[in-house]
Amino acid sequence: MRRARNAIRMYASAQKNFFGDLEYGAPDPVFGVFDLFMKDKTRNKVNLSLGVYRTEDGAPHVFRAVRKVEEELARFDCDKEYGPSGGEVSFNNLSKKLIFGNDQNLLDRVATVQSISGCGAISLTSQYLAERKEPQTVTLLTPTWDNHYVLFNKIAKIIGLEMYDTKTSGFRSNEVIEALRKTVPYGSTVVLQACAHNPTGVDPSERDWTEISKICKERHLLPIIDGAYLGFISGNISKDSTFIKILLEDKHEFFVCQSYSKIMGLYGERIGALHAVCNKKEDVAKLEGYFSTITQELAWRPGAYPSHIVSRILGTQEYYNDWMAELQEVTGRIRDMRVLLHKKMKELRTPGNWDFILSQKGLFSYAPLSVEQCDDMIMNKHVYILRSGRMCMAGFNKKNIGIIANAIHDVVTKKSQYMQCPAPIQ
Ligand SMILES: Cc1ncc(COP(=O)(O)O)c(C=O)c1O
Repeated sequence: MRRARNAIRMYASAQKNFFGDLEYGAPDPVFGVFDLFMKDKTRNKVNLSLGVYRTEDGAPHVFRAVRKVEEELARFDCDKEYGPSGGEVSFNNLSKKLIFGNDQNLLDRVATVQSISGCGAISLTSQYLAERKEPQTVTLLTPTWDNHYVLFNKIAKIIGLEMYDTKTSGFRSNEVIEALRKTVPYGSTVVLQACAHNPTGVDPSERDWTEISKICKERHLLPIIDGAYLGFISGNISKDSTFIKILLEDKHEFFVCQSYSKIMGLYGERIGALHAVCNKKEDVAKLEGYFSTITQELAWRPGAYPSHIVSRILGTQEYYNDWMAELQEVTGRIRDMRVLLHKKMKELRTPGNWDFILSQKGLFSYAPLSVEQCDDMIMNKHVYILRSGRMCMAGFNKKNIGIIANAIHDVVTKKSQYMQCPAPIQ
């Protein structure tokens, strides 16, 4: 009897501690700042922390074409059946054409599967590297999107090449190219953002990309291209695809991780695609099968509903044109905000060179502010930027741009007070 009771007690205590040794994951710095923003009761507070588009009124944005297609899907009683594990063929083909154009010879060499947005596509590549590729060394140009570290650190040794020049607020061209040539292991993998770099807004020039492609060839590096912001600089996907075009010209094999979060505003729908450009057509079916199996193991099937939305927009001329026109409006508004902010900083005669606001591209700018200055922006000015200085340019509008410019000016010109400023976020 006593032995039975002990056994039960031991079982109970083992049960109690079953998950006890789990450590907390690192908190997401973006949502840490966003939480603070939500708790702030000030009327004129400004949120520049999230990497999402906001309208001139500061509201979340849904593309007109998305609304129309959703109404259509509801009206025609779209069913909720499973799709294939690699995604619908029509979705994959349209997504492929959006990135690579209409050259059928090329399209026949691209393996495509639907993914859980851009992040899901990157995650598929990390699984591929873990299972199929040696050496498991992944080079990142840093700083980069935090999840790049998370996804590749699990499966590979990470090499970080500092790409941001704090003096010029631009790209460290010579240093990155030199390091790629000399320190990155032969045959390893390099992850590169195609354009509108997160968090800096700083992209390599066409000349830099040409050189990087050449080195990838010489050193047999496998490029993984994160295309989350393709189309989000100019409103034109092809125009923003300089590096992809160079890689194609140089006959590389490479991955492109595509996302509809930003360019179609489908953030929460989680829709994207993974493309693998192969030298041989024969490899396409194998790769598509391989990645479909991984998706199947992980999630059985990718979401059918968001793929219907995208397919209808890409496959219907009227919706496609409307989406493209609105993408121009959206990206145009971001560019207008850059011009306006630059003008304000000049008017205020804020010390420093603010030309980077115009030279950096896409959703983000990287303000040259210290952590203390960023904390001051948050705590005292109610302008919520990341502690790295990353500002989401879509959070600017004509009403708040003066508040933001004045806040930057104030924190830049009152250096002495930072010792008193409490640090709000870790
Ligand atoms: C550089 C970069 N890559 C990928 C993603 C992933 O986005 P999603 O999974 O929503 O496509 C993001 C999201 O912000 C990003 O900034």
